Amino acid sequence: MCGIVGYNGKNSVTDQLLDSLELLEYRGYDSAGLATLNGTTGKVKLRKCAGRVRDLRRICQSDKKISTCGIGHTRWATHGGVSDLNAHPHRNGDVILVHNGIIENYEELKDHFMLHKELKSQTDTEVVAAVLNRLYKGDPHEALRKAVQYLRGTFALVVLFADQPDTIYAIRNVSPIVAAYNDNGTMLASDVAALGATAEKYMVVPEYVITELHKNEIKLFDLEGKPVEPEFITIDWDTTRDGKGNYPFYMEKEIMEQPDALKATMEQRIVDGKIDLSSDGVPDEILKSCERVCVVACGTAMHAGLVAKALVQSKLGMHMAVEYASEFMYEDPVIDEKTLVLAISQSGETIDTLEALKYARAKGAKSIAVINVKGSSIARESDYVMYTVAGPEIAVASTKAYTTQLIALFLLVGRMAKVRGIFDDAAEKEFLGHLVSAPEKMQQVLDQKHDIHKIARGMLDAKDAFMIGRGLDYSILLEGALKLKEISYIHTEAYASGELKHGTIALITENTPVVATVTQSRLKDKELSNIREVQSRGASVILLVKEDFDLADAEYADVFMLPAMADEFMVFPASAALQLLAYYVSMDKGLDVDKPRNLAKVVTVE
Ligand code: M6R
Repeated sequence: MCGIVGYNGKNSVTDQLLDSLELLEYRGYDSAGLATLNGTTGKVKLRKCAGRVRDLRRICQSDKKISTCGIGHTRWATHGGVSDLNAHPHRNGDVILVHNGIIENYEELKDHFMLHKELKSQTDTEVVAAVLNRLYKGDPHEALRKAVQYLRGTFALVVLFADQPDTIYAIRNVSPIVAAYNDNGTMLASDVAALGATAEKYMVVPEYVITELHKNEIKLFDLEGKPVEPEFITIDWDTTRDGKGNYPFYMEKEIMEQPDALKATMEQRIVDGKIDLSSDGVPDEILKSCERVCVVACGTAMHAGLVAKALVQSKLGMHMAVEYASEFMYEDPVIDEKTLVLAISQSGETIDTLEALKYARAKGAKSIAVINVKGSSIARESDYVMYTVAGPEIAVASTKAYTTQLIALFLLVGRMAKVRGIFDDAAEKEFLGHLVSAPEKMQQVLDQKHDIHKIARGMLDAKDAFMIGRGLDYSILLEGALKLKEISYIHTEAYASGELKHGTIALITENTPVVATVTQSRLKDKELSNIREVQSRGASVILLVKEDFDLADAEYADVFMLPAMADEFMVFPASAALQLLAYYVSMDKGLDVDKPRNLAKVVTVE
C-alpha cells in the first residue's frame, strides 16, 4: 500500500508530485505529504496532512513552488493512526524520507538507538529516519548501507539529505520502486501508473541497490559502491487515464466497460476459431504434463480462481486447489515440479500473492500469472503471463479485472482440455461459442441497470445481509458479498445454502435481505427449497435467476432475470447484476464508492 514518488528535474516539483500522488492515491488515501529541497538555498519544505491529496494540494496552494527536487507520499496506515503527525515524509535531522512497507523490528531499533525521546509519531517510518540520521556522517551511501543492515521487513525508502541538494536517494527490499527519465527530469515511484504519460521507458529498481536520482540521470550502485547498469523496459501500453467520462464514479464506468474488456481479453487468444495462447508464450507442454493445478490469489482474484476450479474439475476431471495467498505457505502445501501454479492478480503487486508464487516456484512448480498491470512484480516473477486487457482499474472495488480474469482462466482451461485430448474440435467450438457470447449477455444486464437500481433501494437500511447459493452460485456470491460489504459497509455473508441450517440461519430475522442466485440447472430445486427456508423465517429474498428457469408460483421481494447461458458461463451475467447491486446501494447511501474506508487498491503489506 502507500504510494511514493520522487521527482528531480526542470519543473516545479510541488505540482509534479501532487499530480503523481493523485495517480497513486488508489494505493492509500488516508493522508498525504511531500517534501521539497531547494538546490540553491538548501531549504527543505515539508507539507503533510491527514486526508486526501486534494487536501494536501490546498495546503500547498500559496507556496511559491520554486523547488525542482522533492519526494511525496500517500499513506495507508499500518503503524500509528491517521493523523497529520503520522503522515509522511518524516524528518529527523538531515534526513527526510517516505516509506512503503513495514519495518518489523522498529520497536527493537527504538531501544537499540535510544530513540524514544526524539520520536514524534507512532510510525515505524520515523524510526528509520532517526536510525538513518544517526548513521549519517555526510556520506548517504554509507548511511543507507549501514541502515538497511538493521532493518527487518519490507521497505521502499526514498530519501532526501538536507545537505545533498538536487539528489534523491532510494533503496528497497520487496516493496517495488520504478524509475524513469525524460527531457524534463528523472522520476521514481511505487508503480508505473504514477509516471504518467511522460515516461516511455522505465526500470524496476533492483532490491538492495542504492538509486541516485539526479536532474538528468539515474545512477545505481550495489552495497559495495560498484555501479550497476540500469535495465530499461519500454512501456508499450497506455498509462494515461481518461477520467470518469460521464459517470459519477470510476466503478460504474468500469462495470460498463466490461463487455469491451472481455472481448479485448479474448481477441488475441482466439485464432481461426480455436484457443491459441501462443501470444502469451504459454507452452502446451506444461498444460499437458501438469498433474495438479493450484491457484494463489487474494480477494476478488481468489474468487475468480474458485470459478476456474469448478471448470477444471468438471471439464478436466483434475483436482484443483484454490488458496488464499496469505495462508498458502503456512499450510505446508503439497507442491512439486508437476504442479502448475496460477497466480491471479489485477495489480500484480499484492505481496501475499507474490510471496506465495515465489514459495511455489522454489518448490519446483511451474507458474502462469494472470495479471492486468504489465511489467508488475508478479508478472516478472512468473514463468509465463497471461495479461488481461481490462485497462486501468481505478475503483478499489474490482469489477472488470475480475471478469477479464475469468475470461483468461476459461481460455486457459479450454486450451488444457484441448491439449489433454478432452476436447475435440467440436467440443472446443461449442465451448468457445458460449464464451464469446459472454460480453453480449453481460451487456443485456448492464442495459437493465435501472431495474437493479430499484432493487438496491430496498437494501439501504440493512445492517446485515446474506447471499445464498450452491456450487458455482456460491462461488459467484462470495464475490458478490465482497463487493457489497466493501463499498456499502453492510455486513454481508455469502453462505453455501445447504450449510445455512447448521447455525447461520439463527441470524435470519424479519426482513433480513437475502440475495439468492439460482443459475445451475442441477441445483435449482435444492436452492429454491433453501430459499423457502429463509423466507419462512421472515427473510426478504432478492432472487437473481436464470431466465428460463420455472419459478412456479413462489413470491419474492424482488426478482431479476439473468440472460440464459450454459450453466458454467452464468457467472458473467450474474456478476454484472451483483456488481450493480453493490454499486447502487453504496451510491444511494452517499458513500465514496471508489475509495471505501480503510481500503487501498494495491495491498503491498503482508
Ligand atoms: O491486485 P490484486 O488482484 O492482487 O488484489 C487482490 C485483492 O486485494 C483485490 O481483489 C480486492 O479484493 C478487490 N479490490 C476487492 O474488490
